[in-house]
Amino acid sequence: MYRLMEKKIKQPMQVKLDKDRVYFWCTCGLSGKQPMCDGSHKGKSEKKSQSFRVEETKDYYLCSCKLTKNPPYCDGSHNS
Ligand code: FES
Repeated sequence: MYRLMEKKIKQPMQVKLDKDRVYFWCTCGLSGKQPMCDGSHKGKSEKKSQSFRVEETKDYYLCSCKLTKNPPYCDGSHNS
């Protein structure tokens, strides 16, 4: 999988997400606001953020290593 990583984070990030709000998950790894996009990909990567919503307000474990096969959620791929 193609990815750029300036900050190599090899574990999921626990984030409280609110129901029905739109979030933008960083796919390139350049964001300074991991695991969410801060626009750092512009001009540096062809990758764009991935928008998503959750159906329940609670804590989620979002992927920061960008290796997950179930984005934006951690699937344990950071251990491989
Ligand atoms: S942080 Fe767990 S799969 Fe990326």
